[in-house]
Amino acid sequence: MDNTLNGRKALVTGGASGIGAACVRALAAQGAKVVVADVDSAAAARLADEVGGTAWAVDLLDVDALATLSLDVDILVNNAGIQRISPIEDFDPADFRRIISLMLEAPFLLVRAALPHMYANQFGRIINVSSVHGIRASPFKSAYVSAKHGLEGLSKVTALEGGEHGVTSNCVNPGYVRTPLVEKQIADQAQVHGIDESEVLAKVMLTESAIKRLVEPEEVASLVAWLASDSAAMVTGASYTMDGGWSAR
Ligand SMILES: NC(=O)c1ccc[n+]([C@@H]2O[C@H](COP(=O)([O-])OP(=O)(O)OC[C@H]3O[C@@H](n4cnc5c(N)ncnc54)[C@H](O)[C@@H]3O)[C@@H](O)[C@H]2O)c1
Repeated sequence: MDNTLNGRKALVTGGASGIGAACVRALAAQGAKVVVADVDSAAAARLADEVGGTAWAVDLLDVDALATLSLDVDILVNNAGIQRISPIEDFDPADFRRIISLMLEAPFLLVRAALPHMYANQFGRIINVSSVHGIRASPFKSAYVSAKHGLEGLSKVTALEGGEHGVTSNCVNPGYVRTPLVEKQIADQAQVHGIDESEVLAKVMLTESAIKRLVEPEEVASLVAWLASDSAAMVTGASYTMDGGWSAR
């Protein structure tokens, strides 16, 4: 079995930072040609340059533009995401809509755009970067938890439809990962929980984990690269946790 990704073309959304950037590097290291799709065009171009891929400067909130898209990629990693922390009664409805658009509607539209090419080749890998919040809830994250639970459903339906066409669809479900998205929410978490910023890791983020450290982006990326490989051909409709034991409770 050839477990390299030579000859494969991959697209990683939110590929310019954090988990997405680690996925870009891991897939490229296995031989894939990678498209770095991100609203941060400068960072996307820099990383594409580094890995010999291409950059796609795109705002995935512009969902109307995605409805007519057609993608010729073999591996699609739906990763772009944002976070907002607020009690439901104060949650800005516009923020709720933005999160659902970026993290559920855009993945649907990208899967829709990629499947015809994948079906024609009898090969495709859809990998959705979900979260432990795809299978568990936390207070103050109504939009994020809703979007990730929805993504889990989309992933399973894609798996059922894609099976006979050589297309697999899976989620990866990390706990808290050391990325800018997590660094940015430390102040907000401190405020809504009424604690000091220095206490957020121990008192909010790592309370449920058996292993008391953040996940590293490269650890998530290695799982994504394996799901993209030939070895994972029988893995579909699954959700793979990497949460230090959080969801074992
Ligand atoms: N960091 C964590 O603890 C953690 C845990 C579980 C799941 N996740 C998920 O992993 C994914 C990546 O998160 P991260 O922590 O690496 O975040 P990050 O902030 O480091 O990177 C997100 C990337 O998405 C891009 N992006 C944001 N809005 C966009 C838009 N409208 N169009 C195109 N690109 C856009 C950003 O420019 C950025 O490059 C997200 O889906 C997140 O929900 C993160």
